[in-house]
Amino acid sequence: MNSKKRKFLSFFSLGVLGFLTYGVFKNLSSLSSPPPKKVMVLFEEIEKAKDILFKENFIVIKTGTNFKVFSRKCPHLGCLLSYSLEEGLIVCPCHQSKFNLYGKFLSGPAKKDLTTLNYRLTYQGLEVEVF
Ligand code: FES
Repeated sequence: MNSKKRKFLSFFSLGVLGFLTYGVFKNLSSLSSPPPKKVMVLFEEIEKAKDILFKENFIVIKTGTNFKVFSRKCPHLGCLLSYSLEEGLIVCPCHQSKFNLYGKFLSGPAKKDLTTLNYRLTYQGLEVEVF
């Protein structure tokens, strides 16, 4: 076999190998991420919390007749966010990032808005998809 053919075959083999490796890893990564967990939040709970409800993994905020649902993980390094009553803001206790009630980043090292979670309205409340 001449050297041009050998080079071509080695490039071709690398391309095929790369393609197959990509396919395997892509499928493995989709298998490793479980489907979102669905958590029910009753309208009564939101009302009792005066329209800002902090659950274990997410935050529900009632804005008029609508709802906003955010992940409770800080977009900086994942600390659990809390609410500052004095400031009326969502704050991170770890490095003091701050967000408004629409999930918009205001200050601190996070530099990103809060992650919005999907939900479905039901007769009794919200069915939130938690990752
Ligand atoms: S983890 Fe929230 S600001 Fe760093």
